[in-house]
Amino acid sequence: MNKECIQKILEAAVRAPSGDNVQPWDIRVSENFTQIDVFNLPEKDDSIYNYEQAASYIAHGAFLENLLIAARHLGCQAGYQLFPDQQNPNHVTQIKLTEADPKQDPYYLAIFQRYTNRFPYQKTEISAATLNALKDSIENINGAHVNLITEPEKIKKIADIFKLNDRIVFENQAIHDFLFDKIRWNKKQMEETQDGMPVDVLGLNPVEKVFFPLLRFWGYVKVANRLGLSKMIELKCWWNYRQASVLGMLSIKGHDKKAFIEGGRAVQRFWLEATRQGFSLQPVIGLTLLIHRLKNTDSTRLSAHHQLLVKQVNQQFLQYFDLNEKDSMLMGFRLGAGSQFHSAKTLRKPVLNIMIE
Ligand SMILES: Cc1cc2nc3c(=O)[nH]c(=O)nc-3n(C[C@H](O)[C@H](O)[C@H](O)COP(=O)(O)O)c2cc1C
Repeated sequence: MNKECIQKILEAAVRAPSGDNVQPWDIRVSENFTQIDVFNLPEKDDSIYNYEQAASYIAHGAFLENLLIAARHLGCQAGYQLFPDQQNPNHVTQIKLTEADPKQDPYYLAIFQRYTNRFPYQKTEISAATLNALKDSIENINGAHVNLITEPEKIKKIADIFKLNDRIVFENQAIHDFLFDKIRWNKKQMEETQDGMPVDVLGLNPVEKVFFPLLRFWGYVKVANRLGLSKMIELKCWWNYRQASVLGMLSIKGHDKKAFIEGGRAVQRFWLEATRQGFSLQPVIGLTLLIHRLKNTDSTRLSAHHQLLVKQVNQQFLQYFDLNEKDSMLMGFRLGAGSQFHSAKTLRKPVLNIMIE
């Protein structure tokens, strides 16, 4: 194994999605380039969503899946162990690499093409073969399951539920402040931080883009909410959900930290297959993470009204997606044909200066 190969593998790994693009990982590579240790950085995400690091573990799972795909594609056999050090809960993954023949992996290219598309999609019919390929993409992940909804009547009902995801962002100050802290307003800020989300990826139309900077002030949002701001945002997102070709839920059996990491692998495989098939995807993960938080009876930082709404959503999801209490809901999503809009790409911190031990 050499440095160039490891670097290529890691460049693919860090293209993984993470909540608001916080990139909660720290990567160490052994001197002989045969071992990669990945650590979680809890300080990167102290949001309400990241209950017991669930959001970060999903991101670590996506990172791991990218790494495994790239390693295979570039001629390495990779074996991994989750939480290898009982003394250090932040030591998420240890990957051991040995040389092997490269095996073309169609997902490798998709790793660099995948992105979150928050713009409206065009409603198009999706063939049964495509739906099957999407389902098959996660079949090698133990306990992972995806439920795909295409019937217009059901899409309507689920759109009605998903829209709460976006409304809560503008009704809960902590969630709002965390999001706005991660928005990058210009190129200079993007290049300085190399994380977060450029304002151009948020799916705003030209008029919304003019007014959006005002919304970073919570005082303004509070007043505007009295005039219906959060409901208007909810309505806009509801329409986007309704226009999707597929709404769905990806889940995994179990609730522990390994389940969330394996679930993150499934999230990534599913998203890569959608990308490969030419479809756009937007995750609706905020709500599923709030459900996880409330299931663990941690209701801090959520108003009583929102707690009630999230609990109702949990019951509705269980029913519509045919799940039970043993499942962890990981990613609600909308999927469809991306519109003509081109959004900017989120950046990643470079892997050039990874720690070599
Ligand atoms: C755990 C997790 C939660 C996320 N939640 C949402 C969400 O609720 N809504 C959304 O639009 N994007 C969500 N995202 C997408 C991230 O914001 C996105 O992956 C990140 O900004 C990087 O951008 P990219 O996906 O375009 O590479 C989530 C991603 C992860 C991994």
